[in-house]
Order: sequence, then C-alpha cells, then structure tokens
Amino acid sequence: MNSEWLIVFLAYLIGSVPFGLWITKLVYGFDIRTKGSGNIGSTNVGRFTSKSFALWIQILDMLKGLVPVALILYRFDIHHVLVYRVAFATVVGHCFSIFLLFKGGKGVNTSIGALVCILPISVAIGIGVYFLVKKFSHFVSMSSMSMSISWILSSLIVVQDPKQIIFTSALCMVVVIRHRKNIIRLMKGEEPKTNIESHQIG
Ligand code: G3P
Repeated sequence: MNSEWLIVFLAYLIGSVPFGLWITKLVYGFDIRTKGSGNIGSTNVGRFTSKSFALWIQILDMLKGLVPVALILYRFDIHHVLVYRVAFATVVGHCFSIFLLFKGGKGVNTSIGALVCILPISVAIGIGVYFLVKKFSHFVSMSSMSMSISWILSSLIVVQDPKQIIFTSALCMVVVIRHRKNIIRLMKGEEPKTNIESHQIG
C-alpha cells in the first residue's frame, strides 16, 4: 500500500469510530442501536438522552470529517485528489464502520465536517435548506436528504474543480442510500415527525 492509500485508510479508520454508540453506552449504559430508528447518529441519540449530549455526539461526528481534511489541506492544496479521497473515506468510515462489521450511521454530520473545509458555501446553503425543509415537513430525514442534494446543486453553481461536483454527488449518494429505511417509512407515512423547536441539525 503506498503512503497516499495509507492516509486514506487512516481517514476511513477515524470515520469508523462510532462515537454515538460507544459514548452513549459508556454514559447511559444502553445500546442506541436497539432504540428508535436504530441509528447511531445524534438525531437518534437525542431522542433517548439529552439535547446537550446529542450535540456533543454531533460535534464529534463532524470532527471525524473536519480534522482529517483540515490536516491534509496543510500539506496539499484544495485541488489535490487526495483531499477528496480522505474526505470521502471519513464518511464511508462513519457509514460502513470497520468496528461495526461495516454497518454504521447515515453520514450527515461527518459529511458536513468533511465538506466545510472544501466547500463552506455549500455547507452554509445546505444548513439553510435543512432548516427550511424541516420547518415545513418536520421530518429530519427529509431535511438531511434535501441538504445533501443541495450540496450538489451549490457545488455546480460555485464550481472551481469538477472534483468538487463528483465529491458532493458521492456524499449525496451515500447519505440517500443510508436513508433508505427512512425513505420507505416516508412513503408509507410511518416516519416520525420531529420536535420543531429543535435547532440542531440531524
Ligand atoms: O442524520 C440522520 C437523520 O437524517 C435521520 O435520523 O434517526 O431519524 O433515522 P433517524
């Protein structure tokens, strides 16, 4: 394995750390996968813990994307393909964690963390889209998927490098695929609505 692929693998390992599962188990003593949607992300953690605890999980999941990308940007410029491989690897790690036998979360927070160093404008637009869709639909999953679609559209508008469009498309694809159970529940009218007072993403 050459050194670039080793870096990508390390990014995958960092993304794989299931903070939502491990810290919830440590602090609250239960397995979040057995509750609610079964997801290890901050939305589901917040349903069974507290808002502030879920916010910490959200921050940690974002940092899994942000820190490796920020570090690689010290060494390589924004157009280097390794930046995109590292960023995508963190999200793949979160969604298909080596510590969870290639199961995992839905990739929303880790995608935001990875994207914020590369396309901050897309993150800003995406957050706007998220809260707008949430305000009218009250579905977190629909809001998350709409945000991920907006990443592609905004990267098309501000494109400097085709790699950015490929990257946002790949992120959106992973996020939507990981929401497949939510999509089925939405179509059946069985997806639970969220607390509209929450100002937290995911
Ligand atoms: O970020 C995850 C969110 O979009 C859906 O979470 O727990 O409702 O499946 P959940």
